[in-house]
Order: sequence, then C-alpha cells, then structure tokens
Amino acid sequence: MRSHGLESGRLLPEILTPPPGPRARAMAGRLEAAEAPGINTLAGSSPLRGALSSTGQKTRAPSGATAMLWAEALGSNVVDVDGNRYVDLTAGFGVAAVGHRHPAVVSAVREQAEQLVHGLGDVYAHPARLELAERLCALAPLPDPRVYFAVSGADAVEIALKTGRLHSGRPGVLAFDPAYHGTTLGALAATSRPAFREPFTRPLEEVLHRLPYGAPAERVQEILERQPDIGTCLVEPVIGREATRWPPPGWLEALAEVCRRREVVLAVDEIFTGFGRCGAWFVCREAGVEPDLVCCGKALGGGLPIAAVLGRKEVMDAWRSDGEARHTATFVAHPLACAAALATLDVIETEDLVVRARTVGDRFGQALEPLSNRPGVTDIRGQGLLWAIELDSPNRAHTLSRNLLHRGLIALAGGASGTVLQIAPPLVITAEQLDYAAAALRDVVGE
Ligand SMILES: Cc1ncc(COP(=O)(O)O)c(C=O)c1O
Repeated sequence: MRSHGLESGRLLPEILTPPPGPRARAMAGRLEAAEAPGINTLAGSSPLRGALSSTGQKTRAPSGATAMLWAEALGSNVVDVDGNRYVDLTAGFGVAAVGHRHPAVVSAVREQAEQLVHGLGDVYAHPARLELAERLCALAPLPDPRVYFAVSGADAVEIALKTGRLHSGRPGVLAFDPAYHGTTLGALAATSRPAFREPFTRPLEEVLHRLPYGAPAERVQEILERQPDIGTCLVEPVIGREATRWPPPGWLEALAEVCRRREVVLAVDEIFTGFGRCGAWFVCREAGVEPDLVCCGKALGGGLPIAAVLGRKEVMDAWRSDGEARHTATFVAHPLACAAALATLDVIETEDLVVRARTVGDRFGQALEPLSNRPGVTDIRGQGLLWAIELDSPNRAHTLSRNLLHRGLIALAGGASGTVLQIAPPLVITAEQLDYAAAALRDVVGE
C-alpha cells in the first residue's frame, strides 16, 4: 500500500475524489467476493450494496453510498485509499482517544516488538503485563482492586458476568434496554472439560432479566426481590453505541445502592466511556459510585486490542483455584497491547486529555446549540467528547452521515433506533478541526 504521507494528525479534511473513489470501489468489490457478508458491511448493509458486482464492477450509480477504505491514520486524520483526507469523529469506535498512531504508542510497540511479541497467556506473565496491572489498579474507581485481563470488550463483559456468578453464587443477570455489551455466543458451552464449564452451565438467556435503562430504583428493587436468582447487574454508565444517552441524574447511585442492599454484584461497563471520553477517567466515579466490577477496553490499548475487568479483591477472589485458569484466551494480556496500553495511559496523563475532553467538549456543545431548532433535529446531548444529534428518522441520520463524509468528516449514524448521529472524536482533536466539524454540521443539518 502506498503511503499518503500524513505528516500531522491535525489537518483539516481534503476530498479529492468524492467517496467512494475508484480504488475504494474496486477493493470493496474484491472484499465482497472474499469475506463473509455479515462482517463486510461495505458490501452488506451499506447503501453501496447493489452498486458493485462480485468482481467490483460498478453496476449502477452508488447513490447514497458511504463506503470507503482506510489506508492511513494519524491523530484525528484518516486518509482513504483514494487519497481523501478526513477528520475522524468516531475515534475508530472510541479506540483512538489519544489519536490514531500516537508516536508514543508506536514507539512503545516497536520497542516491545524487539523483546517479546507473544507470551504464554495465563501461564507465564511478562513485565509489561505486571506494569499494566499495577497501573490499572492505581486508576481503578473502586477500593482494593484487582485486574483480570481480556482480549476484547465482549471478553471483558464475559469475565464480569462470570465473576458475578462465581462470587454471588446466583446465575441471574439484570441488564437494561437499550444496551450494547458485545456479540459473543457460546464457545464455553461447546468446550467439554467440566472444570471450565461449571458453574457456568446455566444458559444466560434463561436467567437474563431486563429493565428499561433509567427505570426507577423501585422497579429495580422490585425485580431483584421477585427474581432472587439475580446475582449480577450489568450497566453502561452512559448508553454508548445503542443510543448515546445519559441516565437520569442520580440514577446510577440509586442503582448501586439497591444492588448493594440485595448483595448483587454491580458491573459497570465503561468500555466506551472509560479513560476520558466524557471528561472523567471513569463516569461511575464522577457519578459517586464505587462498583464491584468495571469493564474497560477500547481506548485502553491506544489502537491495539486489549481489555480488562477491574474488580474488588473480595469479588475477584471468587476465581481462586489450584488448577488452570478458568477463563483465558491465547492472546490474553498480549505484550504488544500491554506496552501500547502503558504508553496510552502516559499520554492521557501527560497531555491532560481527560480535562481537555471536558473543556473542548463544552465549547463544541455550545457550537452545536444553533442546530437544535433545525428541521428533523429532536435532541442534541453530550458531555466531554461524546455527543449525539438525534434526528426524527433513520433516513435523515444516514443522509447526514453521508453528507458529512463528503465534507471529509467521518461520523456514524445508528443506535437501536437508527436515528442518532454520534460524535466521539479523538480526545486530541484540535480546536480548529472541531470548529470545522461544527461549521459543517451547521451547514448540513436540516438540509
Ligand atoms: C459499552 C460497550 N461494551 C462492550 C463492547 C464490546 O467491545 P468489543 O467490540 O471490543 O468486543 C462495546 C463495543 O462497542 C461497548 O461499547
């Protein structure tokens, strides 16, 4: 792949060929022929579907197409395979909090790669893993913390659910609607060794109870009393992907109190919100809540895949056993990812990104205010560098996303209702880039 030579991640967009350009079209067609449809959203659910034959030949004008392929990224900039330069208002699903390819992260990975690229998972640890575990314990928003590493956000959620079950001795789980916690299914059920399977054999679907997000504490209390098998409550402190929505004031605290009274393990999923996104290291701490477990991932690895559950020692002690690890993965606490995570945490601290998210985000919110009266806009909400523009239809949200792309801004439309345009840029986004984004939004929202 040729290099596009992004010398800084602080540039404004430049669109040379309206996306999808010719290289994007050709590659999307090849990808469609090689990948399973579900994972290839370029060919699957995007409006590009139908625009390409399986050989990549254009069969009709891709009206409404939003497809493009990323070739290079640095800071808040992304360059596509056709040489167009964008500002990334997604931070790559919330991962690039310190920006894409931060030099400190790249050099930490490079240095680690000179020493140890892959280790032996749970059996033999390595120094970067030790250092990261200590660092995460120091940051954890709960007393006497211990870390359980994971390879992805969903893996961290699995660990939290298993921990809750082990510690409480009750298989039931309370979750909320809407919520997004991942998409894993059932490798454990197909695994044969009883030591791994028990006591996780009871299928979660049978014991999962759901309430509307933000349901009053009395309803939570009532369901916990009616369903005494519930041992774990899993909650996002801010709904991320499914709605970009905040709970009613005081709700998390009330939820924590009800869980505490019923001895239900409170697992807060900060995979999207953790490490500064909303102007706080962890939203739960800001809300005055000390959970039993906190899931984190995404921003932690600075672009490399790593996640973790931080939990109170007394709760994590439920994992104690003399045998092999009961939850593990080949790539757990991968050396490159641990090194990247340590560098990422350094950058968040030294560049004061948590405070920056708040101050820059407040200013961005003010710049969005004029949009609230525009046709089709039903709500604008946000905190730090997580914002949502809620539209009155999925079609309007997707049109907005596409129009922004043509102005060089990557922002995803979706959520459970399909009506939310989410804005979650790198925390290092420059004031100039954010001003450009706000001005473009003022141009295209309500068009
Ligand atoms: C709140 C939350 N939990 C869990 C996940 C799943 O993480 P992963 O995609 O790394 O498995 C996500 C991903 O978007 C998320 O936002």
